[in-house]
Amino acid sequence: MKFESLKFTASVKNIADIRFNRLPEIAFAGRSNVGKSSLINCLVNQKKLARTSSTPGKTRELNFYCVNDKYYLVDLPGYGYAAVSQQERASWKKLIESYLTKNPFLKAVIQIIDSRQGITKLDEEMINWLAHLGLPTLLIATKTDKLPRSKANHIIKTIETDAAKIGVSDVVPFSIITQQGKNQIWQAILEVLNRAEKN
Ligand code: GTP
Ligand code: MG
Repeated sequence: MKFESLKFTASVKNIADIRFNRLPEIAFAGRSNVGKSSLINCLVNQKKLARTSSTPGKTRELNFYCVNDKYYLVDLPGYGYAAVSQQERASWKKLIESYLTKNPFLKAVIQIIDSRQGITKLDEEMINWLAHLGLPTLLIATKTDKLPRSKANHIIKTIETDAAKIGVSDVVPFSIITQQGKNQIWQAILEVLNRAEKN
């Protein structure tokens, strides 16, 4: 991938605060600390464009990163982080819901799960909800570098079987360390954007 420009555009706590020029958007969703921000950095070959942390709950707003002045990669706050107040969790939920619902700019969601944990109950709820909203979703099983090598294939097969049961036909194994899956993810993103451009 070639980048003519790469910009952090805005951090948004309320949908009403989105006052900048809208472009096609690809959002990154998943449990807190799963590696959403890290995946974005890996895709754009940057270490610190999106802020990452080993402590869950780092991304608390919608963060818009503009690529080539053509589209946005949107980093979402993670779900399922227990150590925040009920009130804060409710406000994240509201923010994510209002962003994902009836958003004509949103072209696809990259849904990320931890390959060591598989599809958790909350992940399943999220995947079902994205399907209900009719949003094209790409499922990524990340942190594959942490899988025991002898078991990696079996673990990915199990995730694929579980994904198929909830209507997801593709799983992309990924790791920021080995960069496994990176090209496949770009291919999927570019396909979605091309299709959106034609419509
Ligand atoms: P929140 O913003 O809190 O929701 O988290 P996030 O999903 O954006 O996760 P983030 O990208 O901040 O990564 C969380 C931790 O996981 C960091 O310590 C990353 O270095 C680590 N991490 C992310 N992806 C990988 C991976 O593929 N392999 C390994 N080994 N570590 C990873
Ligand atoms: Mg983050």
